[in-house]
Amino acid sequence: MAAPDTVRGLLERGWAQLVGSSESSRLDAEILLAHALRRPRSYLPAHDNVPVEEATIARYQSLLARAAQGEPLAYLTGEREFWSLPLTVTPDVLIPRPETELAVERCLALRDAAPAAVADLGTGSGAIALALAVERPLWHVMATDCDASALQVARGNAERLGARNVYFSQGDWLGPLQGRQFDLIVSNPPYVAAHDPALHALRYEPAAALTPGVSGLEALRRIVLQAPAHLLPGGWLVLEHGAGQAAEVAGSLVDAGYARVRCYADLAGRDRVTEAQWP
Ligand SMILES: C[S@@+](CC[C@H](N)C(=O)[O-])C[C@H]1O[C@@H](n2cnc3c(N)ncnc32)[C@H](O)[C@@H]1O
Repeated sequence: MAAPDTVRGLLERGWAQLVGSSESSRLDAEILLAHALRRPRSYLPAHDNVPVEEATIARYQSLLARAAQGEPLAYLTGEREFWSLPLTVTPDVLIPRPETELAVERCLALRDAAPAAVADLGTGSGAIALALAVERPLWHVMATDCDASALQVARGNAERLGARNVYFSQGDWLGPLQGRQFDLIVSNPPYVAAHDPALHALRYEPAAALTPGVSGLEALRRIVLQAPAHLLPGGWLVLEHGAGQAAEVAGSLVDAGYARVRCYADLAGRDRVTEAQWP
């Protein structure tokens, strides 16, 4: 057993404390200790027997206690990687999910590197908009959200990444796009039904980022119906949605007159992203 106030001793204590609440208790304890130490995680293995200061131990204990209650690690450390980009996240924004990278992949597959007007609706941390802006420096990417605090986080991320081809606008879904037309509109809108029991596990994330109403389809339907006024002929709409919503989303795209409606599955085989072209 390692001495209790050394790096190794604190890690052992952390693993034990998180084992009931996390499937990755070792990794989580390492991330939290590194964060409390203000060091990269790679510092830990070579410093097993180094004693840790009282103030750092107190910071670590507090982080462990919050993690054990279910608070997401990304909010505790203030960052999450998306598309290999380090993004700052706060409780004002959804923590970007790996599945959302599928929406980014589809956008990049649909248009080459030539200049294009692109909009990311409900940008949150800026994840999709920034991944596209970094991959396609000649695209002009408008990132919108109804929430001013979320836009502040997204703006900060754009500044830190030096992304100059993204601009931000606050408003309700297609509202900020008024008078403009785009080659590509992408969105990962809220799509969890209001009474879905899964919401309990997501309780630390902003409700407005998760659920748009009783059915979960309200925001998706609005975007499908309102996007054509803002799509250039041949422009694409790319939507992330819940695993059980692909048929409804495809049906509403066909009913609204879109062509080439196609759905894509994530790595777990669940249909999660649907694209369609405005003829
Ligand atoms: C599921 S989150 C997606 C965040 C980010 N795009 C991502 O993929 O990580 C949905 C986002 O839509 C925003 N939102 C919710 N209702 C909206 C509305 N009526 N108009 C614009 N944005 C909205 C939320 O504030 C939130 O940032």
